This record gives sequence, C-alpha cells and structure tokens, in this order.
Amino acid sequence: MAELKIDIDRLVAELQELSRLSATEPPAITRVLYTEPDLAGRAFVKAKCTSAGLVIREDAIGNLFARWPGSEPNLPAIGTGSHIDAIPHSGMYDGTVGVLGGLEAIRALQSSGLRPRRSIELLLFTSEEPTRFGIGCVGSRAMSGTLSPTALAELRDADGKRLDDVRTEAGYRGSLDTVRLKENHYAFFVELHIEQGPILEREGIAIGAVTAIAAPAALKVTLNGSGGHAGAVLMPQRHDALCAAAEIVLAVETAAKTTGSPDTVATVGICQVHPGAINSIPSSVHLTVDVRDIVLESRDRAFASIQETIQKVSTSRGVQAKVETISTDPPATMAGPIVAAIEAASVDGGFSCKRMVSRAYHDSLFMARLGPTGMIFIPCRNGYSHRPDEYASPEAMKIGVETLAQTLGRLAG
Ligand code: GLV
Ligand code: MN
Ligand code: MN
Repeated sequence: MAELKIDIDRLVAELQELSRLSATEPPAITRVLYTEPDLAGRAFVKAKCTSAGLVIREDAIGNLFARWPGSEPNLPAIGTGSHIDAIPHSGMYDGTVGVLGGLEAIRALQSSGLRPRRSIELLLFTSEEPTRFGIGCVGSRAMSGTLSPTALAELRDADGKRLDDVRTEAGYRGSLDTVRLKENHYAFFVELHIEQGPILEREGIAIGAVTAIAAPAALKVTLNGSGGHAGAVLMPQRHDALCAAAEIVLAVETAAKTTGSPDTVATVGICQVHPGAINSIPSSVHLTVDVRDIVLESRDRAFASIQETIQKVSTSRGVQAKVETISTDPPATMAGPIVAAIEAASVDGGFSCKRMVSRAYHDSLFMARLGPTGMIFIPCRNGYSHRPDEYASPEAMKIGVETLAQTLGRLAG
C-alpha cells in the first residue's frame, strides 16, 4: 500500500478539543449519554466526519455511521470506531482514540490515493459506558440484537427516566426496531483502543493484537434493613443495611480471589447509603457488582458464590436483599484473519506486536456477534484508565492509527 501520512498533531488537537466537552474540568472527563457534553461531542465528531467527505447516518438511539464509499458500495463495508462517552472523572483517551483515531486512519487512506473496493465506515457507539442506564455497550448490544427493542426502550436511568423518552428528547427519533443490523452487515470490524492495562508499556511493545475479550457480568443489589437513631437503638436490635453491605463487599473480593483463576476480577463500584446522615442507622444500601474473567466457568463460579453470600448475609442480619442481574455476557473471540492482518500491518510498519486478551469490555464484544471482529491496542501510561491521569503518547497513537489504517486498507481490498 502507498505510504500513509498520519497527521498526529491534528489528532492530538482534536482529542484535546473533545476533552473540553465535559461536565468536569480537564483532566477529569465526564461525558454521560445524551447530556450536553455528550451531544456536543457527537456534533464535534460529526462535523469532522463531514469535513472529511464522509456520508453520515444516525440511527434511532444515536449510533453514528460515517461512511467513505468504496468502488463497490454494495459490498458489506469494513467498520471501525469506538465511543466518546466517559464515566465520571475519567480520562480523555478511552474510546475517543478509536473514534478520532479511526477518522484519522480514514483521512490518511484517502490522502494516500487509495480507492478501496469496500466502503470503510467509522462508528461512534451510543453509551459504551454503563453510567446512565446501568448497562454497558447499549449501542452495540442493540445493533447486534443482544438487547431487544422492548428491553432497550424500557431501560431506566437513576431518575427513573426511560431510554425511549430521553433519546427522543436528545433528538433521536424513529423506530427502535431499525437499530438492529443484519448478521455480516460488516465484512470486518476493527476497533482501536488504549490497552487500559500495563502489559504493552511494561514490555515495550507498540501494538496489541487482541485475541479475545473477557466475559463481564454485573448485578444490582438493594439491601433494605431498618433505620433509626444512631444513639438510641442498641446494637442487638439493629438491622444495619450498610453493615450487611460491608460483609458483601468483602465477600465479592474474596470470591474473585478464590476461583483459582488469576484472571477473575470483581468490583463493587457503587455503594449508595440511605439516608446518609452521621446520626442515622443506614436503612437501605444500593450496590453494584462487576465480575469478569477470560474463562466463563470461573467467572460464573465467582458470580454464583457472590449471590449465595448475599442471601446468607441477608438472612443472618435480618436485612432484605433484592438482587437483579444486569448482564451476563460470554467472552468473545476475535477473528483469526483480522488478528493476522493486524500482525502483518505491524510487521510492515516495523512495529513490535503481541497477541493479548482484553480484560476490559468494548463494543467489539457485541460486534463479534455480527461478524468477524478484531481490536488493536496501544500502550497507555502505567496502564491507567478510568481515571483523570489516563494518557497515551502521540507516538503510541500515531503507531496505532497507522496500524489501523494499514489493516483497514488490507481488509477493504
Ligand atoms: C469498559 O469501560 C469496561 O468497563 O470494561
Ligand atoms: Mn471505559
Ligand atoms: Mn472504552
């Protein structure tokens, strides 16, 4: 393929401009689905895609498709892209590198004079992060049919608002039945992302060719005990919901540490205490539990043991537990031909490359249900992600974008 010129200064400037569209001051990024920063971020990306001559489509929940038509536009396209939503107080590279880096890859291919046979399409997925509706990868779940139009419409945020209503308020109309794509809608889908772990940086490797994505599962737990005066109610009479939650939080940690698999991880990321007053016994607590493993069997073992513990703690403390499963997803295998294309592109570019698994989930977990999917990882400083000091160097991003562009070019023919 002709030499590719990646304009890394332009990409860095665009990432910085996007980082200013946030509900928190940089470097802490907060960009929650359909809030003003999210809508402004989408408008920003759309304008850049339009300037690059891409043909834009948006579906009924705001998944964005920006197409560079190929010489045989009726062939299934090659997809690339990621997300721009950001969990509270996170960093500016998670997802955005795959969206704006994907756009930069397309611009580099355009200026190389390539005329691809297949169209190349940039995707911006709606709500990869679970912040607003409690479940991650909303856009790609819906696209792949993992989330039905009815279940999608009925998702509720913390204020009880239905997704169907908030997406309409955000300007996304049309039937939710139209979001699902047919199997093999894309010939191949490739996502560029920061690793969000320390391996590439530690080993001095430029590119990760992802072979599989770990299996995530999540629970929502509501504990209802009995509140009262912190001075007046004696200890034997208490049914403190936070004490029950504390036992559960530690049991979640133990469950992950005792599956026998070093790859099992489990996290309680939300713990909301009601009524939340220094002199009031906690009457109810809301917890979330996130459990993952590369191997489904050990993930399921930890998940089951956590649920058993919740029941035991609830009985022993006289606290009612309501447990709802948010999601239980299997792992995804990345397509061999894409892994090979990423490796070949790395070799051609003179970049070191390593096969690895993704412990974080991505929209690729669900795109893999639609057709052959792959992911390219680049190093990020200290492996930090989901925190304000997340950082990927311009050099690392340039290599990632070049590898993505070469891979897309190869796959597009
Ligand atoms: C994605 O952000 C994840 O939680 O893995
Ligand atoms: Mn993330
Ligand atoms: Mn991400």
